[in-house]
Amino acid sequence: MPFETALTKALDLRVPVLAAPLGRGSSAEFLAAVAGSGSFGFTALAHMPEDAVSGELAKMQRATNGRFGANLTLVVDQRKRLAAALDAGVRVFSVWQGDIEPYVRLIKDAHGLVFWTVGTPAEAARAKDLGVDFIVSQGREAGGHFVGSAPTMSLLPAIVDAAKGVPVVAAGGIAEGRGLVAAMALGACGVWMGTRFVASKESANHRGYKERVVAARATDLVETEIFDPVGQECPHWVIRNSTYSRWEDAGCPPNGQRPGEGEQISRFPNGKPLYRYNAAAAWDAMEGDWEASPLYASAAVELIHDLKSVAEIVAEIEATAEAALDKAAQLRTGR
Ligand SMILES: Cc1cc2nc3c(=O)[nH]c(=O)nc-3n(C[C@H](O)[C@H](O)[C@H](O)COP(=O)(O)O)c2cc1C
Repeated sequence: MPFETALTKALDLRVPVLAAPLGRGSSAEFLAAVAGSGSFGFTALAHMPEDAVSGELAKMQRATNGRFGANLTLVVDQRKRLAAALDAGVRVFSVWQGDIEPYVRLIKDAHGLVFWTVGTPAEAARAKDLGVDFIVSQGREAGGHFVGSAPTMSLLPAIVDAAKGVPVVAAGGIAEGRGLVAAMALGACGVWMGTRFVASKESANHRGYKERVVAARATDLVETEIFDPVGQECPHWVIRNSTYSRWEDAGCPPNGQRPGEGEQISRFPNGKPLYRYNAAAAWDAMEGDWEASPLYASAAVELIHDLKSVAEIVAEIEATAEAALDKAAQLRTGR
């Protein structure tokens, strides 16, 4: 892979590719496969009960030899999870939503690296002063929850222009090497991919969910806020499912009045009930009505035609990036 960038240098990567946090899909086994492929993955701490963070991260540390990062969604107080992650030796963090400043300070005090997912050039302009190491430019087509104010094609270069030299990673709608090369041409130092990695053999997402990602076309996607609790709404892209259709048939009522609220569709691994409209994406061992849970995905589904191993996905990124670079070189010489 002919790319040596700020990202590959900072994380000692063979390929400038990051695997986004995928809810319970980012298991120790998945993160180990990502690390083994020469890329680097993040796990979402938000879905781990506070008292389970240390144990989960210890497993991931062993599986990856310490080559993974932790993601914090700051819509709730995450200081306990951050402290547990720092104690567990994690030094690469991704933060987004909410007030990042106190978290960045704690991570930098521990000599950690901070990725900040932003959706506007105005946020990107603040990154340097806040001490952020990498900006993640999340286009509004990104799978799952998104903060992007515009699609990747126009948002990414605007964020690069605003970033005051802080390196920018591109997220949203990227599934293979042509997207990687395009993102690099727009000024990115690497890419951050979610939907493509859901449909990997090693991700711990539910088999049925993976198959829906493979089968889906962009026309199957809907933008909604129904899979969030009242007061914590953030728009997200999902594949249309039974919960969405039922809500739509009921005339799209506001959160708090959705049909079937309070209906149990499954149980969390710790035995607690999982209700319809919960934000948890379906995981491998989930029992009950997995299809009713949010099937997060982006328009990258147009490029995903099969379930591949992480190594195959990364090999495909490399091959298609090489081909795209050759094509771009031909354009330049007019051949
Ligand atoms: C199943 C799933 C879960 C996600 N969970 C998180 C999360 O917990 N924290 C976060 O920062 N982003 C999360 N994201 C968004 C990704 O970080 C990323 O921005 C997005 O997947 C990029 O777009 P793409 O899906 O087109 O690759 C999630 C995405 C998916 C598909």
